[in-house]
Amino acid sequence: GITRHYKFDIKLQNVTRLCQTKSIVTVNGQFPGPRIIAREGDRVLIKVVNHVQNNITLHWHGVRQLRSGWADGPAYITQCPIQTGQAFVYNFTITGQRGTLFWHAHISWLRATVYGPIVILPKRHVPYPFPQPFKEVPIIFGEWWKADTETVINQATQTGLPPNISDAYTINGLPGPLYNCSVKDTFKLKVKPGKTYLLRLINAALNNELFFSIANHFLTVVEADAVYVKPFKTKTLLLTPGQTTNALLRTKSKSPNATFVIAARPYVSGPAAFDNTTATGLLEYESSSKVKNKIKNKNKLPLLRPVLPRLNDTSFATNYVKKIRSLATAKFPANVPQTVNRRFFFTVGLGLRPCPQNQTCQGPNNTMLTAAVNNVSFVQPNTALLQAHFFNKSKGVYTTDFPSNPPFKFNYSGTPPTNIMVSAGTKVVALPFNTTVELVLQDTSIIAAESHPLHLHGFNFFVVGQGFGNFDPKKDPPKFNLVDPAERNTVSVPAAGWVAIRFLADNPGVWFMHCHLEVHTSWGLKMAWVVMDGKGPKQKLQPPPSDLPKC
Ligand code: C2O
Repeated sequence: GITRHYKFDIKLQNVTRLCQTKSIVTVNGQFPGPRIIAREGDRVLIKVVNHVQNNITLHWHGVRQLRSGWADGPAYITQCPIQTGQAFVYNFTITGQRGTLFWHAHISWLRATVYGPIVILPKRHVPYPFPQPFKEVPIIFGEWWKADTETVINQATQTGLPPNISDAYTINGLPGPLYNCSVKDTFKLKVKPGKTYLLRLINAALNNELFFSIANHFLTVVEADAVYVKPFKTKTLLLTPGQTTNALLRTKSKSPNATFVIAARPYVSGPAAFDNTTATGLLEYESSSKVKNKIKNKNKLPLLRPVLPRLNDTSFATNYVKKIRSLATAKFPANVPQTVNRRFFFTVGLGLRPCPQNQTCQGPNNTMLTAAVNNVSFVQPNTALLQAHFFNKSKGVYTTDFPSNPPFKFNYSGTPPTNIMVSAGTKVVALPFNTTVELVLQDTSIIAAESHPLHLHGFNFFVVGQGFGNFDPKKDPPKFNLVDPAERNTVSVPAAGWVAIRFLADNPGVWFMHCHLEVHTSWGLKMAWVVMDGKGPKQKLQPPPSDLPKC
């Protein structure tokens, strides 16, 4: 591979959407941010210079970071933030991955405006395992707030109430014509007839799973989270926040006499607050001269709209997720751990916690909303966990007593535990190098039956099983798929259900795991795994780079 250099200047930029201009934090003044392009095996150096008042870190979501944990980016987990006027070079090599990922800010809610695509091409002269596309197009979904997003989340943490929902969904930063004064802010995909396009789809929205569809066109899914999958055809895709999907779009053989609407809108698994609006864009064919002569004004072409599943169409969601299977060929094997060294059962969901002393909270009995894993709501430390781990200074920073099981007997169909108050702490699980882990994630559904897109840093995992109701440790494991399960970095724990994942802890360092609904991360639905060094020279975490920011 080669080395690719990028310079990311974090700076403010005025951006107008929905008739209002606001100053947002951006990379290089671009919104969405610049795309990173690399090949499998390349080394990528990104020099990030912070010119704004906010502290910042960037995360390369889904990049394995094999033995390069210092470059992973979550604030106070692998690094202290880059302060105003400071710089940090993220330095990593892309190993064993090709496909679509994305980068985003990983501190507070700055990722609302600080994000962009990562395109990883196969090694030189290595073809895709599907027809070579004529063109490749990154399409990144987001959410737009008229208000300043840092104010939105700060207000929520002050009151203990949910934060305000976004004012629009966006496609490549553009809301599209269904929103006020946004006709000119419409994403347009111009295509030629009879060609294959590779759409690199990314859900960078903060708080919503999204359906995606193009009117009168089928899409063929070929990759998910930068892993090739068995191709399947579908009219609609579903992406949870943090997930990426490559899909082939085969255009019609002749320029049709129509324009096609591209749409993205939420899949809502629970009673959670959501915005039921739809981001739209347009698929436009380059008209043949015949069509052009007939229709002088392109805007007069008939507009065809896609039919998206119902907002709460859980059966669509379940069936869609089942279709995603690893390619699992000799060239692209699925290395599913066939045996397990350690088993964990984590409940994930919302809860309540007592109001902090100097605050008044608006939750029941002066409590505030919170979210937890095994009833532990993660408390952000004042220094980065990875430094504390590397320099053997964990005392006072974190403890290794994260519970392997919930503190109560979880039973979904029965009564929820009477005590839904959760505890708080900076707890981690320590794993010896090369431990094979099986983790069952059970949605608690205590306050709301809502699905949680769980994202694991530093690893891909295999989604070996999934179901509704209570996970049954006797009946469910024999049904696990250990042959060609989806290999991903983010999985939706279904509302009132569970998923089982397996991964090999072959990457020394500290690895964050959290709900990729930003509101739940803010509330504490997060924890970390500490993977110890192995004995071999290639099984150790390298010392930190000299420019690593200090807290
Ligand atoms: Cu894309 Cu820790 O997140």
